[in-house]
Amino acid sequence: MNMIEQDSLILAIESSCDETAASVIENGQSILSNVVYSQIQLHVPYGGVVPEIASRSHIEKVDLVTQKAMAEAGLRFQELDAVAVTQGPGLVGALLVGISYAKGLAFALQKPLIAVNHIAGHIAANYLAHPDLQPPFLCLVVSGGHSHLIEVTDQGLNLLGCTQDDAAGEAFDKAARVLGLPYPGGPNLDKLAQEGNPLAYHLTEPKVAGAYDFSFSGLKTGFINLVHGMDQRQEAYNKADLAAVFRHTVVHHLCNKTIKACQDKGWTRLALAGGVSANSLLRHTLSDLCEENGITLYMPPLFLCGDNAAMIGAAAYEQYKKEQFAEWSLNANPSLSLRFDA
Ligand code: KG4
Ligand code: ZN
Repeated sequence: MNMIEQDSLILAIESSCDETAASVIENGQSILSNVVYSQIQLHVPYGGVVPEIASRSHIEKVDLVTQKAMAEAGLRFQELDAVAVTQGPGLVGALLVGISYAKGLAFALQKPLIAVNHIAGHIAANYLAHPDLQPPFLCLVVSGGHSHLIEVTDQGLNLLGCTQDDAAGEAFDKAARVLGLPYPGGPNLDKLAQEGNPLAYHLTEPKVAGAYDFSFSGLKTGFINLVHGMDQRQEAYNKADLAAVFRHTVVHHLCNKTIKACQDKGWTRLALAGGVSANSLLRHTLSDLCEENGITLYMPPLFLCGDNAAMIGAAAYEQYKKEQFAEWSLNANPSLSLRFDA
C-alpha cells in the first residue's frame, strides 16, 4: 500500500446534524483552526432538531465557517492538500450540504476529496488531544445515535459490544424531555443532576444478555413510569433528584460494562468518544474506576466532545496517508456504519 509521508494540510467540513463546522488540521494532529456554528437556538422552540431547518441553516453557514477556518489558519485554499467531509451517519439533507460544498471545493482546487465516517471522527478526537495515543486500545463511543464498545487495532476496528436498543444520548434526551427540560436535553439534564440526590429514587439498572452490550430502552420506560406515576398521584417531586437518579443509573451501566470489558480482555488503555463523553459524572466515574483498575483513560477535552470538524480532519489524515480518496460521485449515507474488520 502507498503511504504519503510528506506534511499535510487538510480542510475538514462537518454538517451531519445541528453544527456547521470547518477546521484545518496539520499532519493529523495540530488544530490550525476549529470553527463551529451551533444551530441550537434555531431548534430550541421545537424541542429537538428539525431536519429541514438544519439543512437550510447549513446552506447559509457552510461557506462562512469555511472562510473563517481558512482565515484563522492563515492559509490560501491552494495551500491545502485535501478536503475532507463527513459522509454519514447523520441527517441526509444536512450531510448533503457539507458534501456538495466539499466536492465543489475539492474539484475546483483539483485536490483529493476524503469521505469520513462521523463516528470514526469522534474516536479520532482523542488523537488530537493525546498525541501519544495509538492503537490498540478500547473505545467507548457514546453519542446521540451510538453506544458502542470498539476495539481499535492496527488491523482495523472490532465491535465488542453495542446497545441492543436506544443510544445513551437518545436516552438522556428522552429523560430530559420527560422532565420538561429544553433542548439540548443531555447537557441540560447533566447540569440539573449536579444539584440532585442520585439515591432519592430507585431505578433498576438494565440487564442485557451480552456481557459487553448495553440497553437503555427499559430504563427510559422505567423513568417515564416513575415520573408519570408521581404526576398521577399528584405527588411533589424534585426534578434535580430525578435527573441525578437517571444520570447515575446510565453512567453506572456504561461504566460497569466498560470496566468489565477491560478486565476480561486485558485492555489497559481506554478512550471515551462521542457527545455523551461531555457528561460530567461519566468523566469522573470512569476516571476513578480506571485509576482503581490500572487503566489509562483518554478523554477528549470538552470542546472536542460534541460535533466539530477538527475530529473529522484527524480521522481524514489516517485515510490521506493511505490515499483512500473518494470519487466525485460521493453521496451522503445517513446510516453509514463503521467497518468492523479487525
Ligand atoms: O456526538 P454528538 O454531539 O452527536 C451525535 O453524533 O449524535 O452527541 C449528541 C448527544 C445528544 O444526545 C446529547 O444530548 C448528548 O450527546 N450529550 C450529553 C451531554 N452532552 C451532550 N448527554 C449527557 N450529558 C452531557 N453533558
Ligand atoms: Zn456526533
